[in-house]
Amino acid sequence: MENIIIDTDERIRYITINRPEQLNALNVETIAELSEAFQLSDEDQDIRAIILTGSGEKAFIAGADIKEFADFTIGQGKELSARGHETLFNLVANLQTPVIAAINGYALGGGLELAMSCHIRIASDRAKLGLPEVSLGVIPGYGGTQRLAELVGKGRAMEIILTAGMISAEEAHQMGLVNHVTFPSGLMSRAEEIARQICKNSPRAIGLAIKAVNAGLMNKSRGYQKESKPLEKRLAQRILRKVPLHFWKSARLHLQETN
Ligand code: HXC
Repeated sequence: MENIIIDTDERIRYITINRPEQLNALNVETIAELSEAFQLSDEDQDIRAIILTGSGEKAFIAGADIKEFADFTIGQGKELSARGHETLFNLVANLQTPVIAAINGYALGGGLELAMSCHIRIASDRAKLGLPEVSLGVIPGYGGTQRLAELVGKGRAMEIILTAGMISAEEAHQMGLVNHVTFPSGLMSRAEEIARQICKNSPRAIGLAIKAVNAGLMNKSRGYQKESKPLEKRLAQRILRKVPLHFWKSARLHLQETN
């Protein structure tokens, strides 16, 4: 695995996204590696809890890899969205092994969406969270429109999504988006404390409890479809038009189709 680090300590599996120079942005390879790591961890009977974090001090995950989009065709953009949904975001949400997101810095776009797919979220007080997608001309396409509203309620979700702004860890805590906020130095120990508590309980019962909680939210499938339809059409065309970052300036999108 080139983009992630996997460690195990007793019954806890640690998965760390290791692209700190790119603020741990999710490129295609990283998504594939994460998918494999989560599946293998879930199949391993000795693993009873998983902690997901980002390397470096700055970011958990600063979103999907924008530089990668620059060369994407519409077809590739569509595939990226659909594959990500199935192979990572929904996969994590439906694992039988609990996943704790230890949010050590920026959790933006697909980064916050992955944190929201996890079962529990703990944030460093330096973390900043947000869904900036509409500022790029697309909508949160990895479950964000659905999971944010589930976690914080429709009104707050609307504000976060429509303003595309960032909120602090403390604000996220107040609205229930993260379960706990810690000093940066205490983040992993707080995550481990919760993981160890989980390890004491019946893994079978835990798996069934996750299934039951998720089952109650399953009638949202129409919402997930609504989310991905416009995304697949607009991702390739619109995401590069409003170039918010210096690194997009030279980017050129090679459209093979017109919409
Ligand atoms: C690729 C990224 C990146 C990203 C940062 N980097 N975010 N690379 N994809 N999402 C890279 C930068 O290019 C730069 O690399 C390095 O990380 C440091 O970033 P800076 O911008 O120099 O850092 P800073 O000024 O501190 O700003 C931090 C930041 C900013 C506020 C987090 O980087 C930012 O706004 N990033 C984009 C966040 C975003 O829009 N995410 C959502 C993407 S859309 P170099 O090599 O230049 O030094 C999404 C959903 C898509 O996630 C749905 C798909 C289906």
